[in-house]
Amino acid sequence: MEILTPDIARYLDGLADRPSEFREMERIAESTNFPIIGPASGQLCYLIARMIGAKRIFELGSGYGYSTAWFARAVRENGGGEVHHVVWDKDLSERARKHLDKLGYTDLVRYHEAEAVATLRATEGPFDLIFNDINKRDYPASIDVITPKLRRGGVLIIDNLLWSGRILDPSDTSEDTEGVRAVTRRITESDEWVVSIVPVRDGVLVAYRK
Ligand SMILES: C[S@@+](CC[C@H](N)C(=O)[O-])C[C@H]1O[C@@H](n2cnc3c(N)ncnc32)[C@H](O)[C@@H]1O
Repeated sequence: MEILTPDIARYLDGLADRPSEFREMERIAESTNFPIIGPASGQLCYLIARMIGAKRIFELGSGYGYSTAWFARAVRENGGGEVHHVVWDKDLSERARKHLDKLGYTDLVRYHEAEAVATLRATEGPFDLIFNDINKRDYPASIDVITPKLRRGGVLIIDNLLWSGRILDPSDTSEDTEGVRAVTRRITESDEWVVSIVPVRDGVLVAYRK
């Protein structure tokens, strides 16, 4: 199920101003069927990072660097800092280096070819913003590692929390769908967060750490 009608999704994507290399990365995603956050969600991430003046950002599940590019753009405009790109696929990490180099963000990005939650555990915090886009079954357990690494007043963004509407199908009890449901309950029922799920593309959870 598409959350937005195709016309509305296209309209929102069209409002996101971005460099041509971003568009090239979008074309690659389309032709290879790779799940990037896309322009409207990317713009939302960029906006949030700009609004909180983020200088230290950690991404879990970075792909070939499309979401990283939006965060690096924000960090550059915030006066510089670092964005951690973490993916366990060597090929994706290498491709990300090429795209982000073309965009002029190499000095801002720290690359890790490794499992994302373990890498965050081993990296010194605090971060202003943490973005989570790993395998959905691993979302719930990641929160125990993420929370202490995020500064108070920082923002956690988690992608795919509407999961193409599968969360509403009681017969879907797959590990990934249950992971999305569990992390949603965990964050929305906790007193530690102020939270909203923004229904852009596949649903973007935005949580402010009180
Ligand atoms: C949805 S894609 C990332 C898309 C990227 N955030 C973007 O929007 O451009 C998730 C990627 O993270 C990798 N991945 C999933 N779980 C991971 C984990 N626990 N540690 C490291 N990489 C992971 C997947 O193999 C995949 O390449």
